[in-house]
Amino acid sequence: MSPYQLDVGLGERSYPIFIEDGIMAQIGADLAKRDIASRYAVISDDYVAKLYGSTLMAALKEAGIQAELVTFPRGEASKNLQVFAELSSRLAQIGIDRKSGLIALGGGVTGDLTGFLAASYLRGIPFVQVPTTLLSQVDSSVGGKTGVDIPEGKNLVGAFYQPKAVYIDTAVLTTLPLEEYLGGIAEVIKYGVIRDFEFYCFLERNLDGILGLNPALVQEMIYTCCRIKAEVVAQDERESDLRRILNFGHTIGHAVEAASDFSIIHGHAVAIGMVAALRLAVASGLCKRKEAGRVATLIHAYGLPTEIPAELDRQRIKSYIKKDKKSVGGSVFYVLATTIGQVIITNEITEEQVDSILQR
Ligand code: GLY
Repeated sequence: MSPYQLDVGLGERSYPIFIEDGIMAQIGADLAKRDIASRYAVISDDYVAKLYGSTLMAALKEAGIQAELVTFPRGEASKNLQVFAELSSRLAQIGIDRKSGLIALGGGVTGDLTGFLAASYLRGIPFVQVPTTLLSQVDSSVGGKTGVDIPEGKNLVGAFYQPKAVYIDTAVLTTLPLEEYLGGIAEVIKYGVIRDFEFYCFLERNLDGILGLNPALVQEMIYTCCRIKAEVVAQDERESDLRRILNFGHTIGHAVEAASDFSIIHGHAVAIGMVAALRLAVASGLCKRKEAGRVATLIHAYGLPTEIPAELDRQRIKSYIKKDKKSVGGSVFYVLATTIGQVIITNEITEEQVDSILQR
């Protein structure tokens, strides 16, 4: 198996992450060696199922693993309680029992929905993540956040529930639309800024290779992101403290995403949010202007946006910032960089400071 593997260290609930070009075809053989479940339901959206369903199902069959493919309509609109209920019924109909497991084959919607199903169905059955977007490979497939959206907000119903294994096939990125790949790159840059200056320099040095999907570089990049995320999650699984650093760029980013009625995709909104957070840090005297500029330059060089579009209503953005589900007791927390590779969490940013960033 892959030279790029690591563990998320959570005691008895620790699990491996494997990163390899073409690993999809080996998942069956690896699962057959693990004592996770006696049969599986593979959950996927109809689009990803068409692309990769047959490869995964063939790999499972070849390893003698009984599995069925269960699909739902593609898109964030499916990450809701109705689809959750429909999938639950489907699992019951095909006889998924306590000894069975789920395999999430897809992006963040599929992983979050399947994880929440696994956490709830029969009060919890095991599940495995096979993320197929860069964003889900470096973020949502690792760390156990699962859930669905409700009309009042995204991810408002869910559970912390860790997978048993994560298989990351970098070959699938060749079919990912460029916009989505870049959305994932925003989260990748985030890891460098919050925790690893050397990795940040790697992203500067290897821009062409990363944009050109050089397999060795992409594997190393994903491995480093997963390593950082695993370290953070192992220390603070339930986001009481350290894990909040993973929200760097997300406070303003989520608000921009929501105020655009989600026409700006998550990763791009995070790119804008990271630049805004860096400007806030400069305005608060926490970070040098030159360092903030260096990160904005890299974000731009990767083809990601750095500015809040002029047409977005600033008042709407502000009201979404206040509604941020991570705000506690009415104060909004910001993750701000003090230098590239280090952040702090603060609730001492004034409305005026935020205003001046939003009005730029
Ligand atoms: N996406 C942030 C986290 O998993 O904590």
